[in-house]
Amino acid sequence: MSEPIDLAALPNDFLWGTATAAYQIEGAVAEDGRSPSIWDTFSHTPGKTAGGDTGDVACDHYHRWPEDLALMRQLGVNAYRLSVAWPRVLPGGDGPVNAKGLAFYDRLVDALLEAGITPSVTLYHWDLPQVLQDRGGWPERDTAHAFAEYASVVAGRLGDRVKLWTTLNEPLCSAWIGHLEGSMAPGWTDLTAAVRASYHLLLGHGLAAQAVRAAAPGAEVGIVNNLSTVHPATDSPEDAAAARRQDGHVNRWWLDPVHGRGFPADMRELYGVELPEKPGDLETIAAPLDWIGLNYYFPAYVIDDPQGPVPHARAVRREGVARTGMDWEIEPEGIEALLLRLTEDYGARRIYVTENGSSFPDTVGPDGTVHDPERRAYLESHLAACASAARKGAPLAGYFAWSLLDNFEWAYGYDKRFGLIHVDYETQRRTVKSSGRRYAEIVDAHRKLATG
Ligand code: FCB
Repeated sequence: MSEPIDLAALPNDFLWGTATAAYQIEGAVAEDGRSPSIWDTFSHTPGKTAGGDTGDVACDHYHRWPEDLALMRQLGVNAYRLSVAWPRVLPGGDGPVNAKGLAFYDRLVDALLEAGITPSVTLYHWDLPQVLQDRGGWPERDTAHAFAEYASVVAGRLGDRVKLWTTLNEPLCSAWIGHLEGSMAPGWTDLTAAVRASYHLLLGHGLAAQAVRAAAPGAEVGIVNNLSTVHPATDSPEDAAAARRQDGHVNRWWLDPVHGRGFPADMRELYGVELPEKPGDLETIAAPLDWIGLNYYFPAYVIDDPQGPVPHARAVRREGVARTGMDWEIEPEGIEALLLRLTEDYGARRIYVTENGSSFPDTVGPDGTVHDPERRAYLESHLAACASAARKGAPLAGYFAWSLLDNFEWAYGYDKRFGLIHVDYETQRRTVKSSGRRYAEIVDAHRKLATG
């Protein structure tokens, strides 16, 4: 039995949502004028994704969105975090707008609002138009400017109805996993390119925030980071130093600049890569946020790894610890600690948990149901930790479960299922899992409490 969830600690107007990302669910990659993104290229490159899976069809959400919206209503959620596919809107990366691409999101937003579901729009969830990659991608400054142009187009069209805007989803993954580790698009392993990409992503965030605010007065703009609690795996001073470096790499590098603290000096020295700085950039990057988004999945326990890649810290696999199907450790205390850190160390005024969830190998039983007690326990324990953080003062305003649907889990393909709703990829049949039904109960219980 997990702890009860202190629902009374959450505000009455709390957003209860689910989250998805365009390339993971939409499919229809060559339809209505969409151009390829770096994820089309990457997933079609042999050996890059499990089983050679691609997002070509995914959940076919581009055609089946009315059914998916009906499922959201069934869950009783009052919010939905979606991402817009840049290559649908500006197939050339910048320049001419593809009206059909924009129209898709326009219809979706109208239908969400009609259903009483608040849309929260993420502008960049990793699907850079391939044409911009061909011009150098995020290591080049022009990409940040193209991003602002795209942001202005989308906000100009949807901003009369959409209030909550996210510039970037998890820039860490784009920069470090995409350009340093190489296991995500564009698949590079080059520290200089990775550091330059990290810089231009954050610059792009700042420029896009300005563009959204200019195009949509009243927009509430935030950025979404995936943060981890980082612990030294032993008491040794070397491992403590490694934990500090890892914290710099995954947390401080992404939080400090947007909070006006600049890029952390210890990490700049460690990377040893000159930043492509121009006067005024830091101010652009640090323009005040209306809110900040936290994606949380797992903690890190690290040891010193002097011969290993930057930041010379290696996560260890601790024995006897519960894990998800991704082999990620389950530690709900981490989400509470991070919510409090954002509040206390970074002065966050409003926080959304923009993603949190777990993958397990679900199957549809003979009776047609999906019984997923482990995901249900993960959901309950993490919601309890969120409510506890709120009780201690974290200004938590919403929670978006990852994910609405099982979907294309990037390099892991379709093998990893994170949905509250099961998808049979052969038939595209959707089945609400027992965790989804549990989520609906929790949402309903809070609604009753809030409306007294
Ligand atoms: C996050 C991503 C999201 C999904 C989850 C499991 O890093 O933002 O798209 O893949 O992990």
